[in-house]
Amino acid sequence: MPIPTHPSTSSDELKSALAGFCTGVAVITALEADGNPVGMAVQSFSSVSLDPPLICFCPAHTSTSWPRIKAAGRFAVNVLAEDQQDLCRRFAVPGADKFAGTPWRPGGNGAPLLEGALATIECELTDALDGGDHAIALGAVTSMTAHRSDAGPLLFFRRSYGRLPRSSSSMSESMASARSRSEA
Ligand SMILES: Cc1cc2nc3c(=O)[nH]c(=O)nc-3n(C[C@H](O)[C@H](O)[C@H](O)COP(=O)(O)O)c2cc1C
Repeated sequence: MPIPTHPSTSSDELKSALAGFCTGVAVITALEADGNPVGMAVQSFSSVSLDPPLICFCPAHTSTSWPRIKAAGRFAVNVLAEDQQDLCRRFAVPGADKFAGTPWRPGGNGAPLLEGALATIECELTDALDGGDHAIALGAVTSMTAHRSDAGPLLFFRRSYGRLPRSSSSMSESMASARSRSEA
């Protein structure tokens, strides 16, 4: 189905409106065939389906990481914690050596799992759909682990980072710490 265009909607207006939608932040990582780790920060991560378990994220066509993640065919979603702002900034700089000084270990599918992430979700890339100037990358979840119960999520709202008030993050932590599953 062709994507309709509405010239009356400017990119700046759309960006301003969408900036009011508060999200968490994730770093999508993959390991290239030659062993090089690759990664990019995204706020476009979302769950799609529980049965079968599917997630998605939307990489810009300008991203240099995306073609490399696509070629790897599998990736990990690292859900960032509130104390990982610096790490997030590093993974948002196009073309930078993002893994310099970033502790990580390979997951079951080889994709880098970043130390300190709240949770990691390993996926097979099942599809890359047309999303205008972005792609819609669909991933089938193969494994997931909740790692931390001592921190809340890193938030992004109106172009700034934030965190949940202490009481509500404690509540979500206790819910998250109960869940830890691997390899369906
Ligand atoms: C909080 C935050 C969220 C971001 N979300 C996305 C996103 O969903 N999709 C995207 O393509 N870029 C997103 N970016 C920008 C990319 O992280 C950045 O452009 C990317 O690292 C490009 O680098 P590369 O050329 O090395 O891939 C986001 C950046 C920040 C700081």
